[in-house]
Amino acid sequence: CPFHAADGVPLIHAVPEDVQADRERLYQEGPLTRVELPGGVRAWATTHHEVSKATLNDPRFVKSVDHWADYQEGRVPEGWPLLGTIPTDNTNMLALDGAPHRRLRQLTASPFSARRVERLRPRIERITARALDALEPRASQTLDLKSEFTFRVPMAVIGELYGVSEAEYENLGEMYAKLFSGTTEEGEHLRIYHTLFQYFGELVARKRATLDEHDDFTADLIRASEDGEGLTDMEITLTLLTVVAAGHETTVNLLTNVVRALLRYPEQLERLRKGEVTWDAVVEETLRYDPPNNLMMFRFATEDIEIEGQTIKKGEALLTHYGAASRDRAEFGDDPEVFDPDRGKGRHISFGYGPHICPGAPLSRLEAGIILPMLFERFPDLRLAVPDEELVVASALSVNSLKEFPVVLRP
Ligand code: HEM
Repeated sequence: CPFHAADGVPLIHAVPEDVQADRERLYQEGPLTRVELPGGVRAWATTHHEVSKATLNDPRFVKSVDHWADYQEGRVPEGWPLLGTIPTDNTNMLALDGAPHRRLRQLTASPFSARRVERLRPRIERITARALDALEPRASQTLDLKSEFTFRVPMAVIGELYGVSEAEYENLGEMYAKLFSGTTEEGEHLRIYHTLFQYFGELVARKRATLDEHDDFTADLIRASEDGEGLTDMEITLTLLTVVAAGHETTVNLLTNVVRALLRYPEQLERLRKGEVTWDAVVEETLRYDPPNNLMMFRFATEDIEIEGQTIKKGEALLTHYGAASRDRAEFGDDPEVFDPDRGKGRHISFGYGPHICPGAPLSRLEAGIILPMLFERFPDLRLAVPDEELVVASALSVNSLKEFPVVLRP
């Protein structure tokens, strides 16, 4: 059976044949189920909405791999590819728990705030306009909207956010593309990571020396270090690294998924044009219908925990399946398979929930709200270059992405 292990445990595939159908299958296995991931690693998964919220907000589940029995006791296969997507070093925000995590969140709250990121609006508009201009000469040919637009623009936005020069962020973009390509070898991976670490370390030192001249995220973080219990340079550097890792690919996928949903549901595109539905509603419904992270690994039980009539044992791993939870009828109504920006029912948790809820949500919403209307204004007849069913999925795990998104901008 392609969907169950020999003992009946549901399988999670990196690239399911039909991502939407796979979400439904896992929803039906819920609310809480054992799963087997590629490579044979087993965990629990929440695949309904309320149980996902409850566990994300339960301090008995923690992020530190110190609490993962299979990992600590050597049962996770050596070189398991998905290990790269789990923070194993207890240094960054995503891996910290309790008071050290709260401290880091508090110290970075203001730099991430909607008010601070709103400053970027004119720069995002400029970056987008330039990226659209660059596409004009090939507007009537097939091109990959992902590599040529939805990947590039958010990378440039992060460059602007950090206050680095354009030449620098082009270079950063290339390094991150390699880091996330999935085909980069482990040695090369480590080398890039080391280069980025050094680069961000130098950026912090450079900005600190001329702090008065800077009004950007990096400078904000440095300023947040000036009170007694403030951030160390190492923590600032790690935050800069984490933000690109957590915030770039996710935004790329949000932008790509909105365009895809609108091309699948042209009547919604038409309603957008007539002003019958807002871009905000379209973006929020895309976050539910096709979440940028299909699932999120892991939290670990610090004690035996009873949920939904089952016991998650101390040391066991739990993942949140956002894609399946977004099919929850109790939250979203009877037709969760439909892309309906006027659903008017339910609140997605695609930015997470509880203490680790995404601090980058205001920036991604700001970006989507600027970049997408500009894209469709410039190229109102934008079409897929292949039928939707032929789009090739790169991954439907933590990262929910297509390999390419071939379109013709001006057929
Ligand atoms: C955390 C989703 C964009 C920075 C998270 C989490 C989710 C998420 C689900 C929670 C992880 C967990 O519970 O383990 C998304 C989505 C995005 C997006 C769907 C785009 C559509 C961004 C952006 C940034 C960012 C643009 C930075 C500017 C972070 C950081 C964390 C995080 C630093 C870790 C927070 C913590 O562990 O306390 N994101 N994110 N994200 N996100 Fe985002």
